[in-house]
Amino acid sequence: MATKIEIIKGDITQVTADAIVNAANSSLLGGGGVDGAIHRAGGPQILEACRQIRNRQGGCPTGEAVITTAGRLPAKYVIHTVGPVWQGGNKGESELLASAYLNSLRLAMENKCQSIAFPNISTGVYGFPLAKAAQVVHQTVSGFLNNNPAALRTVIFVCFDEENYRLYQQLWHQPDH
Ligand code: APR
Repeated sequence: MATKIEIIKGDITQVTADAIVNAANSSLLGGGGVDGAIHRAGGPQILEACRQIRNRQGGCPTGEAVITTAGRLPAKYVIHTVGPVWQGGNKGESELLASAYLNSLRLAMENKCQSIAFPNISTGVYGFPLAKAAQVVHQTVSGFLNNNPAALRTVIFVCFDEENYRLYQQLWHQPDH
């Protein structure tokens, strides 16, 4: 059966899903934006788990993803992925953004998650243009779901700002609810 797509406006730390995706940086040591919100709400266990990954494999390269406990969040896991910094559009940013989403989806699948919640990766501090990012995400995620129809029951896009919310609703043809 087809995977349900939900577009919501709000704070991802309040969303209940098996996996919550974090827009991290390659150090995995936290930051501002959604990274800061997830660590604040999830508590120190998440950073501790990130440190262990750092000690094992170093940081997380752009476009890759790692999985940790969700600490106090209403989720089983946090998937930390590193989106690209926008540098004008001809440094492979779109491909790197696509792989951040794909690697997050794969990790969720490997860990038997039924649901995953994404923030709008790279569209904050990393300066990725919102409309372009929304297009890349739509193409990448719908492609993955077509190839893996039974992989996930629900994919939730959590938009923190109105512009992302509108863009995602238009692209995914969601009623305004
Ligand atoms: N819930 C959901 N979305 C949020 C939240 C939240 N609590 N807080 C911020 N956002 C949104 C932003 O509005 C933006 O649309 O997440 C999106 C991604 O923005 P950033 O968090 O700035 O992430 P990104 O652009 O990928 O930059 C990553 O920022 O915080 C640092 O450590 C992080 O260095 C990394 C960089």
